[in-house]
Amino acid sequence: MKKDKQYPDFLHIGEKLLRWYHIYGRELSFRKTKNPYYIWISEIVFQQTRIRQGLQHYQNFIVRFPDVRTLAEASTDEVLLYWKGLGYYSRATNIHKAAHQIMADFDGNFPVKYEDILQLKGVGEYTAAAVASICFGEDYPAVDGNFYRVLSRVFADGFDISSPKAFSYFSELAHLMMPTGKAGDFNQAMMDLGSEICKPRNPDCISCPLHEDCLAYQSGTSGGFPVKKKKTVVQEMYLAYFFVESGGKFLIRRRGTQEIWKNLYEFPTEISDHLKPYIVSSRTMKHKLTHRHLTIDISVVKLPSEKRLKDFAVQHGYLISGYKASENKSFPKPLEKFIAHFFELT
Ligand code: ADE
Repeated sequence: MKKDKQYPDFLHIGEKLLRWYHIYGRELSFRKTKNPYYIWISEIVFQQTRIRQGLQHYQNFIVRFPDVRTLAEASTDEVLLYWKGLGYYSRATNIHKAAHQIMADFDGNFPVKYEDILQLKGVGEYTAAAVASICFGEDYPAVDGNFYRVLSRVFADGFDISSPKAFSYFSELAHLMMPTGKAGDFNQAMMDLGSEICKPRNPDCISCPLHEDCLAYQSGTSGGFPVKKKKTVVQEMYLAYFFVESGGKFLIRRRGTQEIWKNLYEFPTEISDHLKPYIVSSRTMKHKLTHRHLTIDISVVKLPSEKRLKDFAVQHGYLISGYKASENKSFPKPLEKFIAHFFELT
Protein backbone atom coordinates (compact mmCIF):
# COMPACT_ATOMS: atom_id res chain seq x y z
CA MET A 1 0.00 0.00 0.00
CA LYS A 2 1.06 3.58 -0.49
CA LYS A 3 1.30 4.50 3.11
CA ASP A 4 1.61 8.27 2.90
CA LYS A 5 -1.10 8.91 0.29
CA GLN A 6 -3.92 6.68 1.41
CA TYR A 7 -3.45 7.06 5.11
CA PRO A 8 -2.07 10.40 6.12
CA ASP A 9 -3.35 9.94 9.62
CA PHE A 10 -2.00 6.69 10.93
CA LEU A 11 -1.32 8.21 14.33
CA HIS A 12 -4.94 9.12 14.73
CA ILE A 13 -5.83 5.41 14.51
CA GLY A 14 -3.20 4.53 17.11
CA GLU A 15 -4.56 7.18 19.45
CA LYS A 16 -8.11 5.87 19.07
CA LEU A 17 -6.84 2.42 19.95
CA LEU A 18 -5.15 3.78 23.09
CA ARG A 19 -8.30 5.60 24.19
CA TRP A 20 -10.27 2.39 23.80
CA TYR A 21 -7.63 0.46 25.75
CA HIS A 22 -7.78 2.85 28.68
CA ILE A 23 -11.49 2.12 29.03
CA TYR A 24 -11.83 -1.48 27.87
CA GLY A 25 -8.34 -2.98 28.33
CA ARG A 26 -8.31 -6.17 30.38
CA GLU A 27 -7.35 -5.99 34.01
CA LEU A 28 -4.65 -8.61 34.25
CA SER A 29 -2.49 -9.21 37.32
CA PHE A 30 0.76 -8.85 35.38
CA ARG A 31 -0.33 -5.46 34.09
CA LYS A 32 0.06 -4.06 37.58
CA THR A 33 3.84 -4.43 37.48
CA LYS A 34 6.72 -3.19 35.39
CA ASN A 35 9.15 -5.68 36.83
CA PRO A 36 10.79 -7.03 33.66
CA TYR A 37 11.27 -10.49 35.15
CA TYR A 38 7.51 -10.89 35.68
CA ILE A 39 6.66 -9.39 32.32
CA TRP A 40 9.13 -11.67 30.56
CA ILE A 41 7.67 -14.77 32.23
CA SER A 42 4.13 -13.64 31.42
CA GLU A 43 5.02 -13.10 27.76
CA ILE A 44 6.51 -16.58 27.44
CA VAL A 45 3.60 -18.24 29.27
CA PHE A 46 0.97 -16.44 27.20
CA GLN A 47 2.66 -16.86 23.84
CA GLN A 48 0.75 -19.99 22.99
CA THR A 49 -1.64 -20.19 25.89
CA ARG A 50 -4.82 -18.24 26.43
CA ILE A 51 -4.84 -15.93 29.43
CA ARG A 52 -7.63 -17.87 31.15
CA GLN A 53 -5.79 -21.18 30.79
CA GLY A 54 -2.34 -19.94 31.71
CA LEU A 55 -2.96 -17.49 34.55
CA GLN A 56 -2.78 -19.99 37.39
CA HIS A 57 0.44 -21.47 35.96
CA TYR A 58 1.92 -18.01 35.71
CA GLN A 59 1.01 -17.22 39.33
CA ASN A 60 2.41 -20.52 40.61
CA PHE A 61 5.58 -20.02 38.61
CA ILE A 62 6.39 -16.57 39.96
CA VAL A 63 5.48 -17.49 43.52
CA ARG A 64 7.97 -20.38 43.41
CA PHE A 65 10.57 -18.50 41.33
CA PRO A 66 10.09 -14.84 42.33
CA ASP A 67 13.30 -13.57 40.75
CA VAL A 68 16.05 -14.43 38.30
CA ARG A 69 18.39 -15.80 40.95
CA THR A 70 15.84 -18.20 42.43
CA LEU A 71 15.04 -19.45 38.95
CA ALA A 72 18.70 -19.86 37.99
CA GLU A 73 19.40 -21.83 41.16
CA ALA A 74 16.49 -24.25 40.70
CA SER A 75 16.90 -27.63 39.02
CA THR A 76 15.74 -28.06 35.43
CA ASP A 77 13.37 -30.78 36.64
CA GLU A 78 11.63 -28.42 39.01
CA VAL A 79 11.32 -25.69 36.39
CA LEU A 80 9.80 -28.22 33.99
CA LEU A 81 7.42 -29.32 36.71
CA TYR A 82 6.06 -25.81 37.11
CA TRP A 83 5.47 -25.77 33.38
CA LYS A 84 3.39 -28.92 33.60
CA GLY A 85 0.11 -28.54 31.75
CA LEU A 86 1.29 -25.65 29.56
CA GLY A 87 3.01 -27.85 26.99
CA TYR A 88 5.86 -26.67 24.75
CA TYR A 89 8.36 -27.46 27.47
CA SER A 90 11.25 -26.11 25.41
CA ARG A 91 9.99 -22.68 26.45
CA ALA A 92 10.61 -23.61 30.10
CA THR A 93 14.06 -24.99 29.31
CA ASN A 94 14.89 -21.75 27.51
CA ILE A 95 13.62 -19.62 30.41
CA HIS A 96 15.92 -21.55 32.72
CA LYS A 97 18.90 -21.10 30.39
CA ALA A 98 18.13 -17.41 30.05
CA ALA A 99 18.14 -17.06 33.85
CA HIS A 100 21.68 -18.50 33.87
CA GLN A 101 22.63 -16.09 31.11
CA ILE A 102 21.33 -13.12 33.12
CA MET A 103 23.36 -14.25 36.14
CA ALA A 104 26.51 -14.70 34.06
CA ASP A 105 26.31 -11.81 31.59
CA PHE A 106 24.27 -9.16 33.41
CA ASP A 107 25.28 -9.69 37.05
CA GLY A 108 21.84 -11.05 37.83
CA ASN A 109 20.08 -7.84 36.71
CA PHE A 110 17.45 -8.18 34.02
CA PRO A 111 18.73 -6.36 30.91
CA VAL A 112 17.03 -3.02 30.31
CA LYS A 113 17.68 -2.51 26.60
CA TYR A 114 15.84 -4.11 23.69
CA GLU A 115 19.07 -5.28 22.05
CA ASP A 116 20.26 -6.96 25.25
CA ILE A 117 16.88 -8.54 26.01
CA LEU A 118 16.95 -9.98 22.50
CA GLN A 119 20.15 -11.87 23.37
CA LEU A 120 18.36 -14.02 25.93
CA LYS A 121 17.69 -17.62 25.06
CA GLY A 122 14.16 -18.13 23.77
CA VAL A 123 13.54 -14.40 23.35
CA GLY A 124 12.66 -13.28 19.84
CA GLU A 125 11.76 -9.89 18.46
CA TYR A 126 8.18 -10.11 19.73
CA THR A 127 9.11 -10.88 23.35
CA ALA A 128 11.99 -8.39 23.43
CA ALA A 129 9.68 -5.67 22.09
CA ALA A 130 6.95 -6.54 24.60
CA VAL A 131 9.33 -6.40 27.59
CA ALA A 132 11.23 -3.32 26.39
CA SER A 133 8.03 -1.39 25.66
CA ILE A 134 6.00 -2.40 28.72
CA CYS A 135 8.84 -2.10 31.27
CA PHE A 136 11.17 0.49 29.80
CA GLY A 137 8.96 2.54 27.46
CA GLU A 138 11.04 1.72 24.39
CA ASP A 139 9.21 2.40 21.13
CA TYR A 140 9.09 -1.11 19.67
CA PRO A 141 5.87 -2.66 18.36
CA ALA A 142 5.44 -6.27 19.57
CA VAL A 143 4.45 -7.61 16.19
CA ASP A 144 2.74 -10.98 16.24
CA GLY A 145 -0.27 -12.61 14.63
CA ASN A 146 -2.59 -10.05 16.27
CA PHE A 147 -0.76 -7.20 14.55
CA TYR A 148 -0.85 -8.99 11.20
CA ARG A 149 -4.57 -9.56 11.49
CA VAL A 150 -5.59 -6.14 12.79
CA LEU A 151 -3.37 -4.12 10.47
CA SER A 152 -4.13 -6.12 7.36
CA ARG A 153 -7.86 -5.63 8.04
CA VAL A 154 -7.71 -1.95 8.95
CA PHE A 155 -5.82 -1.20 5.74
CA ALA A 156 -7.43 -4.02 3.69
CA ASP A 157 -3.83 -4.88 2.97
CA GLY A 158 -3.16 -8.11 1.11
CA PHE A 159 0.53 -8.30 2.02
CA ASP A 160 1.30 -12.01 2.38
CA ILE A 161 1.88 -12.74 6.08
CA SER A 162 3.77 -15.93 5.25
CA SER A 163 6.37 -13.90 3.37
CA PRO A 164 9.73 -13.47 5.14
CA LYS A 165 9.23 -9.73 4.68
CA ALA A 166 5.93 -9.64 6.58
CA PHE A 167 7.53 -8.90 9.93
CA SER A 168 9.38 -5.80 8.77
CA TYR A 169 6.45 -4.66 6.63
CA PHE A 170 3.93 -4.77 9.47
CA SER A 171 6.49 -3.42 11.96
CA GLU A 172 6.84 -0.35 9.78
CA LEU A 173 3.08 0.09 9.58
CA ALA A 174 2.80 -0.32 13.35
CA HIS A 175 5.52 2.29 13.91
CA LEU A 176 3.52 4.78 11.87
CA MET A 177 0.50 4.27 14.11
CA MET A 178 2.25 4.16 17.46
CA PRO A 179 2.19 7.35 19.52
CA THR A 180 5.72 8.03 20.80
CA GLY A 181 6.44 6.88 24.33
CA LYS A 182 3.27 4.80 24.55
CA ALA A 183 4.46 1.54 23.02
CA GLY A 184 3.72 -0.54 26.13
CA ASP A 185 0.04 0.39 26.16
CA PHE A 186 -0.17 0.37 22.39
CA ASN A 187 1.16 -3.19 22.20
CA GLN A 188 -1.14 -4.43 24.92
CA ALA A 189 -4.08 -2.64 23.30
CA MET A 190 -3.33 -4.51 20.09
CA MET A 191 -3.17 -7.80 22.01
CA ASP A 192 -6.57 -7.13 23.60
CA LEU A 193 -8.14 -5.96 20.37
CA GLY A 194 -6.78 -9.02 18.55
CA SER A 195 -8.00 -11.52 21.13
CA GLU A 196 -11.33 -9.95 22.16
CA ILE A 197 -12.60 -8.09 19.10
CA CYS A 198 -10.62 -8.53 15.90
CA LYS A 199 -10.66 -12.32 16.26
CA PRO A 200 -9.57 -14.64 13.48
CA ARG A 201 -13.15 -15.79 12.95
CA ASN A 202 -16.32 -13.79 13.56
CA PRO A 203 -14.69 -10.49 14.49
CA ASP A 204 -16.92 -8.26 16.62
CA CYS A 205 -16.62 -5.27 14.29
CA ILE A 206 -19.54 -3.39 15.84
CA SER A 207 -17.64 -3.09 19.13
CA CYS A 208 -14.34 -2.24 17.45
CA PRO A 209 -12.95 1.23 18.13
CA LEU A 210 -11.39 1.22 14.65
CA HIS A 211 -14.38 0.25 12.53
CA GLU A 212 -14.82 3.71 11.06
CA ASP A 213 -11.26 3.52 9.80
CA CYS A 214 -11.26 -0.14 8.86
CA LEU A 215 -11.24 -0.66 5.11
CA ALA A 216 -12.00 -4.37 5.44
CA TYR A 217 -15.06 -3.61 7.58
CA GLN A 218 -16.22 -0.88 5.24
CA SER A 219 -16.01 -3.22 2.27
CA GLY A 220 -17.31 -6.30 4.12
CA THR A 221 -14.10 -8.22 3.47
CA SER A 222 -12.73 -8.87 6.99
CA GLY A 223 -12.87 -12.62 6.37
CA GLY A 224 -10.35 -12.24 3.52
CA PHE A 225 -7.63 -10.85 5.78
CA PRO A 226 -4.91 -11.51 6.63
CA VAL A 227 -3.70 -13.09 3.41
CA LYS A 228 -1.51 -16.13 3.96
CA LYS A 229 -0.23 -17.72 0.79
CA LYS A 230 2.00 -20.46 2.15
CA LYS A 231 0.34 -22.87 4.48
CA THR A 232 2.34 -23.83 7.57
CA VAL A 233 4.19 -27.04 6.77
CA VAL A 234 2.93 -29.69 9.13
CA GLN A 235 4.74 -32.97 9.63
CA GLU A 236 2.68 -36.06 10.44
CA MET A 237 4.35 -38.12 13.14
CA TYR A 238 3.40 -41.52 14.52
CA LEU A 239 4.41 -42.76 17.98
CA ALA A 240 3.68 -46.01 19.77
CA TYR A 241 3.88 -46.50 23.51
CA PHE A 242 3.26 -49.31 25.97
CA PHE A 243 1.73 -48.43 29.30
CA VAL A 244 3.16 -51.32 31.28
CA GLU A 245 1.19 -51.51 34.50
CA SER A 246 0.53 -53.66 37.54
CA GLY A 247 -1.39 -52.74 40.69
CA GLY A 248 -1.46 -49.03 39.83
CA LYS A 249 2.32 -48.86 39.20
CA PHE A 250 3.72 -48.25 35.73
CA LEU A 251 7.00 -47.93 33.86
CA ILE A 252 8.54 -44.67 32.77
CA ARG A 253 11.88 -43.37 31.60
CA ARG A 254 13.34 -40.03 30.90
CA ARG A 255 13.69 -38.99 27.29
CA GLY A 256 17.08 -37.84 26.17
CA THR A 257 17.62 -34.87 23.95
CA GLN A 258 15.70 -36.14 20.94
CA GLU A 259 14.10 -33.54 18.76
CA ILE A 260 10.84 -33.31 20.67
CA TRP A 261 10.01 -33.54 24.34
CA LYS A 262 13.59 -33.14 25.53
CA ASN A 263 14.07 -34.25 29.14
CA LEU A 264 10.44 -35.19 29.67
CA TYR A 265 9.31 -38.60 30.88
CA GLU A 266 7.66 -41.17 28.66
CA PHE A 267 6.50 -44.80 28.62
CA PRO A 268 8.36 -47.73 27.02
CA THR A 269 8.31 -47.67 23.24
CA GLU A 270 8.87 -51.41 22.86
CA ILE A 271 8.23 -54.59 24.80
CA SER A 272 9.41 -58.12 24.19
CA ASP A 273 7.10 -60.49 22.33
CA HIS A 274 6.31 -62.64 25.34
CA LEU A 275 4.61 -59.66 27.02
CA LYS A 276 2.30 -59.00 24.11
CA PRO A 277 -0.39 -61.42 25.36
CA TYR A 278 -0.79 -59.11 28.34
CA ILE A 279 -2.00 -56.23 26.21
CA VAL A 280 -5.53 -55.56 27.44
CA SER A 281 -6.50 -52.45 25.55
CA SER A 282 -5.16 -49.72 23.36
CA ARG A 283 -6.02 -46.18 22.62
CA THR A 284 -5.14 -43.75 19.86
CA MET A 285 -4.66 -40.11 20.69
CA LYS A 286 -4.19 -37.16 18.38
CA HIS A 287 -2.14 -34.21 19.44
CA LYS A 288 -1.48 -31.08 17.42
CA LEU A 289 1.66 -29.02 17.81
CA THR A 290 2.40 -25.98 15.68
CA HIS A 291 4.47 -27.88 13.15
CA ARG A 292 3.57 -31.47 13.89
CA HIS A 293 0.42 -33.53 14.01
CA LEU A 294 1.03 -36.50 16.24
CA THR A 295 -0.83 -39.79 16.27
CA ILE A 296 -0.01 -41.72 19.41
CA ASP A 297 -1.00 -45.33 20.02
CA ILE A 298 -0.83 -46.41 23.62
CA SER A 299 -1.25 -50.10 24.46
CA VAL A 300 -1.98 -51.03 28.04
CA VAL A 301 0.06 -54.02 29.19
CA LYS A 302 -1.35 -55.38 32.42
CA LEU A 303 1.25 -57.59 34.09
CA PRO A 304 0.04 -60.22 36.57
CA SER A 305 2.33 -59.14 39.40
CA GLU A 306 4.38 -56.20 40.58
CA LYS A 307 7.36 -58.55 40.62
CA ARG A 308 7.09 -58.95 36.83
CA LEU A 309 6.93 -55.17 36.57
CA LYS A 310 10.07 -54.83 38.69
CA ASP A 311 11.95 -57.47 36.71
CA PHE A 312 11.09 -55.74 33.44
CA ALA A 313 12.12 -52.37 34.88
CA VAL A 314 15.48 -53.66 36.07
CA GLN A 315 16.23 -55.51 32.84
CA HIS A 316 15.42 -52.62 30.57
CA GLY A 317 16.37 -49.62 32.69
CA TYR A 318 12.93 -48.19 33.48
CA LEU A 319 11.69 -46.43 36.59
CA ILE A 320 8.53 -47.48 38.38
CA SER A 321 6.01 -44.80 39.14
CA GLY A 322 2.58 -44.60 40.71
CA TYR A 323 0.02 -41.92 40.01
CA LYS A 324 1.13 -39.73 42.94
CA ALA A 325 4.81 -39.91 42.02
CA SER A 326 4.00 -39.13 38.39
CA GLU A 327 2.45 -35.85 39.46
CA ASN A 328 5.95 -34.68 40.32
CA LYS A 329 7.31 -35.46 36.90
CA SER A 330 6.75 -33.76 33.58
CA PHE A 331 5.29 -35.82 30.77
CA PRO A 332 4.38 -34.69 27.27
CA LYS A 333 0.83 -33.36 27.35
CA PRO A 334 -0.87 -36.33 25.64
CA LEU A 335 0.84 -38.80 28.00
CA GLU A 336 -0.15 -36.67 30.96
CA LYS A 337 -3.75 -36.82 29.72
CA PHE A 338 -3.50 -40.56 29.26
CA ILE A 339 -2.31 -41.06 32.85
CA ALA A 340 -5.14 -38.92 34.22
CA HIS A 341 -7.61 -40.85 32.10
CA PHE A 342 -6.19 -44.23 33.12
CA PHE A 343 -6.60 -43.39 36.79
CA GLU A 344 -10.05 -42.02 35.98
CA LEU A 345 -9.27 -38.53 37.00
CA THR A 346 -10.84 -37.01 33.93
N1 ADE B 1 -0.51 -12.13 25.62
C1 ADE B 1 0.81 -12.08 25.77
N2 ADE B 1 1.17 -10.99 26.45
C2 ADE B 1 0.04 -10.32 26.76
C3 ADE B 1 -0.24 -9.12 27.44
N3 ADE B 1 0.74 -8.38 27.95
N4 ADE B 1 -1.51 -8.73 27.52
C4 ADE B 1 -2.47 -9.50 26.99
N5 ADE B 1 -2.28 -10.63 26.33
C5 ADE B 1 -1.03 -11.05 26.21
